[in-house]
Amino acid sequence: MSEIFEARDWDAAGRIGRLSVPRSGVTVETPTIMPVVNPHIQTIPPRELAERFGAEILITNSYILHGSDELHDEALSRGLHDLLDFPGAIMTDSGSFQLSEYGEIDVTSEEILAFQREIGSDIATPVDIPTAPDTEREAAEIELGTTQERLEAAAEFDSGETLVSAPVQGSTYPDLREAAGEHATGTGLDVFPIGAVVPLMNEYRYGEMVDVVAAAKRGLGPAAPVHLFGAGHPMMFALAVAAGCDLFDSAAYAIYARDGRYLTVRGTEHLEELDYFPCSCPVCAEYTPAEVQNGETERLLTEHNLYVTFAEIRRIKAAIREGNLLELVESRARGHPAILDGYRALLAHSEQLEHTDPASKSTFFYLSGESASRPEVRRHHRRLERLSVPDSLLLAGGPTDGAVETEEVWTVRPPFGPVPPELSETYPANAELPDRLDGEAYAAAARGVARLAEANPDCEVALATAGWPDAALAALPGSIELV
Ligand code: GUN
Ligand code: ZN
Repeated sequence: MSEIFEARDWDAAGRIGRLSVPRSGVTVETPTIMPVVNPHIQTIPPRELAERFGAEILITNSYILHGSDELHDEALSRGLHDLLDFPGAIMTDSGSFQLSEYGEIDVTSEEILAFQREIGSDIATPVDIPTAPDTEREAAEIELGTTQERLEAAAEFDSGETLVSAPVQGSTYPDLREAAGEHATGTGLDVFPIGAVVPLMNEYRYGEMVDVVAAAKRGLGPAAPVHLFGAGHPMMFALAVAAGCDLFDSAAYAIYARDGRYLTVRGTEHLEELDYFPCSCPVCAEYTPAEVQNGETERLLTEHNLYVTFAEIRRIKAAIREGNLLELVESRARGHPAILDGYRALLAHSEQLEHTDPASKSTFFYLSGESASRPEVRRHHRRLERLSVPDSLLLAGGPTDGAVETEEVWTVRPPFGPVPPELSETYPANAELPDRLDGEAYAAAARGVARLAEANPDCEVALATAGWPDAALAALPGSIELV
């Protein structure tokens, strides 16, 4: 596993990675989206996905090929790459989705793995059992047991150069997801899709989706390449990447286009309701909504959907490189309430994010109350406990003119709290803050002050608090002198 995936730049649990795909001899840069290609219907030919949109990897369904009178033998004789005419890597799914939709499929996990190897798939998938959200616990455990047996059998299977994925199930039970993640990496398989999240995303339950991902990640560990099965709406990519997902796949670009829906990073629009295109892709630059409606509607919408999808992936990679991925997630959270839910759920896992979040990034931008819960704030608060303090200390949370005499004066910067002079120019305390701060910023600063005071009971701490809201003041320990 670790030999085929290398993570380089980190931000929160997000990273830019390189996935080496031995069968095709290519390297795929992550995070990325694998467009879903239906072998029977291709609005955009796979070669164009690569050459025009930059797709390095796509995903198709081996079960459809296996059951196709027309394509089964051709896939075996020509191989998948030639059949689809795609120059990059190709992942294949196994029919598990059909299993969850129709209750049964007519191949075993071994048979479909062998077929995937024979048609030259780069990443094959065993038949896992996608256990729906909210399934009764006992049923979820039984189904997870079956999935795990199949992963163990897949690990014994001779796949040649074809990598094999190990889907992580466990429904909406975090402990099952975590155990499933740990078991999956334990098999030694190669790529780790988090499964059965499509129903959560269809119902806009992004908070729970993040909890599922966070739980699976705890089990998988940071070295595993993680695929979020069936996730393809560009509004959620930044959130999912920050939670630690590397690969996405989706038919959304094509399915949405088929019924007149136009993807944006803030949600979905209906073409007939658009008077203007809020996008600068080649389609939107050349046509008006009315022209698209009266022309080759599906083809043009599919193209636009792909352009925004890949643009968001590039924006995310740039954000990771620059160290402002959480600022990007925060702006996506401001675009759609379901993503805000997801972002709040993500920040509830700040401790987990902190493990991979770099100590220094580009300037921290305080953009909303959520910024006060970022992992950097948590880390600063813990750091406060380890700083050495004088016998008396004035914390300048506001103007201090004529205030008490103390040995040292430290500034207080919401949401971090006390900042000693030697840290004031370094990340994250050198943050950009708005002049008009919210209650969360002061509350987090008060937690920092309390943390420092409690770790140093012998230090006399005074705090200048002009302008602080009552709720933040109420959270301070009584030992602190307010001036
Ligand atoms: N496609 C969407 N969800 C899933 C899943 O849970 N398992 C598999 N194999 N494919 C999927
Ligand atoms: Zn566009």
